[in-house]
Formats: sequence, C-alpha cells, structure tokens
Amino acid sequence: MESRERENETDRVVSRKAKRRRRQKTRPIAVIVLIAVAAAIVVCVLVLGSVSKDMSQKENFPNAPENNDASSLTDGEDDADEVVMPPDGDAEVDVNTVDGKPYYYDSAREDRYIAFATNHPEIAGDDVYWMVDCDLDTLPYEDTHELPDPDDILLMVNKHFYLPEGFAPVDLVNVGNTTMRAEAGEAMQEMIDAAAAEGLNIWSQSGYRSYGVQVNLYRDYSARDGEAAADTYSARPGYSEHQTGLTTDLNTITDAFGDTPEGQWVAANCWQYGYIVRYTKENTDVTLYKPEPWHMRYIGRDAAETMHDEGILSLEEYWVKYVLYQPPGVG
Ligand code: DAL
Ligand code: ZN
Repeated sequence: MESRERENETDRVVSRKAKRRRRQKTRPIAVIVLIAVAAAIVVCVLVLGSVSKDMSQKENFPNAPENNDASSLTDGEDDADEVVMPPDGDAEVDVNTVDGKPYYYDSAREDRYIAFATNHPEIAGDDVYWMVDCDLDTLPYEDTHELPDPDDILLMVNKHFYLPEGFAPVDLVNVGNTTMRAEAGEAMQEMIDAAAAEGLNIWSQSGYRSYGVQVNLYRDYSARDGEAAADTYSARPGYSEHQTGLTTDLNTITDAFGDTPEGQWVAANCWQYGYIVRYTKENTDVTLYKPEPWHMRYIGRDAAETMHDEGILSLEEYWVKYVLYQPPGVG
C-alpha cells in the first residue's frame, strides 16, 4: 500500500515536471509571436502615414522629386513634419494659373520653392513663387546677375541685378538742376507741373548718378555708419537705380517727406505719370532697403497703372509677373 502511494506521488511529480517543461518550451514561441504582431502593427502605421503624406505632397507638387524629405530642404535640424509646402496660387491674389499653378511657376525651381516656404512659413499665397523666381531666396549681393539691357525702361535693379560699370544713359535731359533719361524726365516735369497746379512744390533733387558717383557715396556712408547700416539705405556701385537715369529723389531726403502734402500727393498720384515710390514700408522685406518716400522710379504709364490697379507692392513682383513671365493670353 505504501509503495502504491509512493508510485502515485511519483506520477504526480513526474506529470507536474512534464507540464512545466511543456510550458517552458512553448513560452518563447508565444513571446516571439507577440513581438511579430507588434512589429507588424508598427510597420502598417508607418507605411500608411508615409503614403498619406506623400499623396498630399503630390497634390501640391505633382513634379516633386521623390526624395525631397525634410533633411534635404532644411538645415537638417528641423523635424520632417515642419516641411511647409507653398499653397496653391491664392485666387484672390492671382487667378492666372496653368494646371493649377501660377503661370510663373517653374518646375526647375521646385526644390527652392519648397525650401523657401519651409524656411519662411510667414510668407503666404503665391508670394513664395515670384520671390524665388527673382532670387529673393538667395543672399543679397551673393547671387548676382549683370543686366543684359540697361536701356530697358522696365529693367529691375536691386541687390541681385546690377548695371555694367561702364553703362551711362545717352538721352539725358535736364529736370531742374538734375538730369534724367528723356522719357522719364518729361513725365517727371508733367508731374511737377500737375502738383504745382494744386499748389504743391515738388522738385527733382538727385537724378542720374554715375557709377563713379555711387562709388564715392557708398564708400562715405559705409565709412560713417558701417557697411551693414549703409546697405539699408545706400546701394552699392552698379546696384543703384540712379545709374539708370530713370530715378530721382524728390525734395528733402528725410522720412518726414512722406508726411508732407507733397509726399502724400506723390504717393497717391505718381502712377498716373508712370512712376512708383520704389521703397515703401510695405515692401521692405523684398527690397531690403528702408522706406524712401522721396525715391521715384519711372517704369512707364502702362506698368505703373497695372501695379496701381493690381495692388502690386514692389517692382520685383511686377517684374516676375509681367516681364519675366506674362499672364496667359497677354503678349
Ligand atoms: N538710396 C537708394 C537705395 C540708392 O542708393 O540707389
Ligand atoms: Zn534715390
């Protein structure tokens, strides 16, 4: 009897050990299965996220290169989610689109549009496109181009586009004690006469300036205030509109001029004579100059009227939209 009980006890012990061994054998398999299921879920989530992001990117940029991830667009420190895509052309600003893009969109500049929009989320609407089109995504005075036709009335001189050192206009006429190109000078005289008829006194104070004069001016200003400060109000030689003969400074070169009756009349009416106030508080981010309510630039009556009517705030924007490109159906 005792021996049978010992046998039963032995069987129970053997059975418990066998179960434990079976559990020990099957536990690693269960753990592996669990890890595999978890990994599959993670992979699915990542793939779905990437597909939906790629689809939204493709909607905005159908020609986007496949590998335009955040690291290739930013300084490498930003998170991928911070990539900003330029919005499609803003219908209120510009209704002229081709295949859903502004007519001045160029797929060759795709990466630059994306990088500029990413680095400047504050720049809205179609502004990203025209600003990149005229190189405003590059540093001033670093990516520069010599203007091929300095006699062009619609040429754009700024911190990226410069006049040849030897250029001087050949059709200068007198306007008061200054000189300007004939067409600009005649229009300026008409403007001066129209203002006079309303009892206002405007005069041309500094018109055409040669390359050499600008060398001296910029040298003196930067010696006095330092180059960085001088760059906010004085053009470097070759980069001044005054060398075109299409520009003059009116009356007094002071901020107060903008608040005088003459300054206000000029700002409101100059477009009718083919002029624009070239540097305003609204376009400082584009021109990189402080406002100069006295600095008038002749661009011709048609262009000035278009800028006025369309609410275009800088010559840069006009130049891209009407000179570098033309709206569909024009020209
Ligand atoms: N003051 C303007 C920017 C010039 O020097 O041409
Ligand atoms: Zn000026």
